Amino acid sequence: MQLDVFTLVPHSFAWLTEQRPVAAVLGGELELRLLNYRDHTPLNSGQVDDDPYGGGAGMLLRVDVVASALDAVYGGVPGHRVVALTPQGRQLTQAVVEELAAEERLTLLAARFEGFDERVLIHLASDAISIGPYVLSGGELPAMVLVDAIARLQPGALSEGSAERETFSPGLDGGVEYPHYTRPLEFRGWRVPDVLVSGDHGRIEEWRREESKARSAR
Ligand SMILES: C[S@@+](CC[C@H](N)C(=O)[O-])C[C@H]1O[C@@H](n2cnc3c(N)ncnc32)[C@H](O)[C@@H]1O
Repeated sequence: MQLDVFTLVPHSFAWLTEQRPVAAVLGGELELRLLNYRDHTPLNSGQVDDDPYGGGAGMLLRVDVVASALDAVYGGVPGHRVVALTPQGRQLTQAVVEELAAEERLTLLAARFEGFDERVLIHLASDAISIGPYVLSGGELPAMVLVDAIARLQPGALSEGSAERETFSPGLDGGVEYPHYTRPLEFRGWRVPDVLVSGDHGRIEEWRREESKARSAR
């Protein structure tokens, strides 16, 4: 998959790209390009933003700046999906992540300030996605959330089987995962459920299914 992120802060992605699972698939199943609007702005002195018409607080990411960046990289508005990150967009869920991860090419647009000139959303983006009903200062964290969620669905990102029965997966009927425990067996009187150390795999499986169902119904 080719995933392009347009941002004003490409270096903010450094941490994410050094960590698994993103690092494990970069250059293989996932080609990630971090593109700076400022490198393609048609305006002087690297300007990318401007005052809103009609007045009001804050600055907006200009439509000509975003269009120039798309022109420079794709020769126009690309034929593939272009996702603008905005708190006003469609809410991100695992189903939406899976839908986007199935694309061969995907572009993410991150804004800062007061957001995008509305014409970016109308004419340049095909989708608008929100990572949740709250407002962040920029689209970089939302873009990183999407990059991470998409990366872990790529072949080879996770160890064998670990995505098959995790929260929201078909392996758990879309429900949440059962609880996990590791050593020590007992800590401050808090004991691991006996069934997990019983060695009876049938009972363990049944217990996990029931726990998952109970948690999903909450
Ligand atoms: C301060 S926000 C702009 C908020 C905008 N003025 C509003 O009231 O809807 C700046 C940018 O951060 C990003 N952003 C903030 N919260 C987000 C969220 N929940 N989901 C996706 N992107 C978000 C978007 O790219 C947005 O344009």
